[in-house]
Amino acid sequence: MTAQLISTTSTPINLDLKKLPQHVAIIMDGNGRWAKQRGLPRIEGHRKGANTLKEILRTCKNWGIKTLTAYAFSTENWGRPLTEVGFLMGLFERLLRQELQEMKEEGVRIRFIGDLSPLPSSLQQEIHYSMTETQHNQTINFNVAINYGSRGEIVKACRHIAEKVAQGELAPESINEDLISQYLYTSSSPDPDLLIRTSGEMRLSNFLLWQMAYTEIYVTDTFWPDFDVQQFHKAVATYQKRDRRFGKIV
Ligand code: FPP
Repeated sequence: MTAQLISTTSTPINLDLKKLPQHVAIIMDGNGRWAKQRGLPRIEGHRKGANTLKEILRTCKNWGIKTLTAYAFSTENWGRPLTEVGFLMGLFERLLRQELQEMKEEGVRIRFIGDLSPLPSSLQQEIHYSMTETQHNQTINFNVAINYGSRGEIVKACRHIAEKVAQGELAPESINEDLISQYLYTSSSPDPDLLIRTSGEMRLSNFLLWQMAYTEIYVTDTFWPDFDVQQFHKAVATYQKRDRRFGKIV
């Protein structure tokens, strides 16, 4: 297959349209190393990485993949140098402002998952505005995880459920897997079918631990800024060859 055959705009070549993942989650890793390899500051890797994300979102939309969830900033990422954290917060805000009109036109519904309360107030405003403005869009759901940590999310859900039980609003017997899922940030999305992690690390890094119990994992050595539609195609093709048994014998 030649590279020209696959593009963000065309329908996917050599893929089974009936077996496309409905929800793809991505750990966008390797921005800093990509920049270092080129003698550039780390922030250039994030800038280029944002373009990659835009291209993959558009590809998902055009291929009919219904949900994309991207890990943009973890609860652990606050430990990075202040200048890098500040740059990332500014980048998120700028991108939201720049891209909102196009997302509206393309039918993207954007949502944010994570504890948004410690984010700069101007970013919070932009986040709320973009979620409101796109809330009726239905072509693709785009979830962005910012200040997200999966264990923290589960603890928060447990506290919320415990409060309901203490107030007599919920019976302990009614707590089951579906109910817990409803108390997570991701309550409106199905669980991811495919997780893509770039830059070769074999870790989940506190991302969607509950939701990814049966998710197929695809790891590539490519750094996120170099990840493109050809590689996305390869990830989906690999996913389609997997035998998903969900713990059963088929
Ligand atoms: C991981 O690479 C990347 C991040 C922590 C930031 C990702 C953010 C973007 C690509 C911008 C996306 C924008 C929006 C609006 C969602 P790293 O810095 O950990 O790389 P390294 O492991 O090589 O150091």
